[in-house]
Amino acid sequence: MVSDSVEEVINLCARRGLVFQNSEAYGVFAGFFDYGHYGALLKRRVENAFWKRFVESREDVIALESAILNPASVWKASGHLNSFNDPLVECVKCKTRFRADHLIEQELKINVDGVSHARLQELLNEHKLACPKCKSALSEIKSFNLMFKTSVGAVADETSTAFLRPETAQAMFVNFKTLQLASRKQLPFGIAQVGRGFRNEISPRNFIFRAREFTMMEIEFFVHPEKLDDCPQLENHFNLKANVLTAEEQEKTKTQEKTKLREKTAREKQEKEKREKQETEKMEQKTFKELVEEKTIGTKWHAYWLAEFLSWFHELGLKPEKLRLRQHVKDELSHYSRETWDVEYDYPQWGWKELMGVANRGDYDLNAHSKHSGKDFTIFEEETKKRVTPHVIEPSLGSDRLVFTLLINAFEKKIEGGQAKNILKLAPLIAPIQASVFPLVNKDGLPEKAREVFETLREAGFVVEYDEKGSIGKRYARADEIGTPFAVTIDYDSLEKNDVTIRFRDSSAQERVDIEKLAEFLKKEFQC
Ligand code: GAP
Repeated sequence: MVSDSVEEVINLCARRGLVFQNSEAYGVFAGFFDYGHYGALLKRRVENAFWKRFVESREDVIALESAILNPASVWKASGHLNSFNDPLVECVKCKTRFRADHLIEQELKINVDGVSHARLQELLNEHKLACPKCKSALSEIKSFNLMFKTSVGAVADETSTAFLRPETAQAMFVNFKTLQLASRKQLPFGIAQVGRGFRNEISPRNFIFRAREFTMMEIEFFVHPEKLDDCPQLENHFNLKANVLTAEEQEKTKTQEKTKLREKTAREKQEKEKREKQETEKMEQKTFKELVEEKTIGTKWHAYWLAEFLSWFHELGLKPEKLRLRQHVKDELSHYSRETWDVEYDYPQWGWKELMGVANRGDYDLNAHSKHSGKDFTIFEEETKKRVTPHVIEPSLGSDRLVFTLLINAFEKKIEGGQAKNILKLAPLIAPIQASVFPLVNKDGLPEKAREVFETLREAGFVVEYDEKGSIGKRYARADEIGTPFAVTIDYDSLEKNDVTIRFRDSSAQERVDIEKLAEFLKKEFQC
């Protein structure tokens, strides 16, 4: 169940055509989505902001765009064929399939993030959970591989088996040597890409938060294994504050929970609330300087990438108090990970959920590809004149999930003229439309003048929208609802004085600006 405000954001997405179900006319596969005009502009802006900040503005990250379909051998080597599984249960009668952890969360109202498949089975048995649809018994938990399988070419045999990539990361590992040699980069350096990922989620839910096809923005950052703490740039983030929940704190709470889970359901609900409160209380606010000094995060490069993304999220307008760093508990770590920290967002009703992950993958992937392909994945280090297998710190983020989070974070309701109105307080940097241009009325030469202003702004490089339909109040409301930060209105005075009124979305304040200086004024507002 999603909360009211999450529902409202989803409704807004559908009504204004930002994001909607794919193939709606034909009955849909859940978990596939299409982005309409405003949604596509917003998503593109978010991905461009990532690209600009983490690739184009840095000397130590290079770009990659790789194929989406890869041979089974890649996924065997990476461990995804064996380990990229979710726990599946099936109703013995109606055959409906459920993701066991989701079913338990839904029925028992407890959080089972990071709980092993064995413990999930215990919970199903202890609570005698049945099929929510027909109340029949459920099968034992089976492992369900999340990769989409296909075959390449006319003959379908073992060698033609391919999988749609479940993460973009593997191409950064498989191409590591080629890219390093071509770029002549020395350690530490990263490879980044933005591209589609595919996961055959058992029960995709929560709109674009968990889809079957989505866009990933990933960086594999390669570091000399003995220099994971050699990261002077981390000092730039020493004053940055973060809410932090360590694995140790969670393990303590879980031990208490195991006993309590055997008690009755009403009691469990109370326990859940209490546990969440406890968790929040134990979540401490720390500066990165403290986190480094107390060695809360395993290595400095790991801390650095968490800080980089946390400060980027602040720039994008995510509210700092809604973000926290949560360390994965042991059972929860992916097969390749030595240590993972998620950046979580506190969603309405859902509570804290993963927005992104930053993992220390060690040398797992390069070693695995070396072993399976028989090729050399080491690098010659000039400084020590030795060959080394680098270790990897991996920031990984879904752009759809970030877009959804930004929408939820920006969504507000306000009462104007006795009416409830929606407003998306998106940071100007990512707003789909940067300014809307309105003639106050649709006559007396105002539309012509407004069109001139519209063209001037377009030529100056802004993404602008012209709207002359309906009352000015309705046009402001339409622009506010899709997050347009500035509305430019042309009135009768504009014809005489060659100026316009700029209305600021968040405050509704207005200011008159000369048309000659308008582009300059907006550029300053956008800091571009
Ligand atoms: N290469 C590491 C990796 O794939 P992950 O935690 O499985 O790690 C990384 O995924 C990020 O991708 C998540 O933090 C989330 O932002 C996004 N993501 C994962 N599964 C998703 C899904 N089904 N729908 C939308 N976004 C997803």
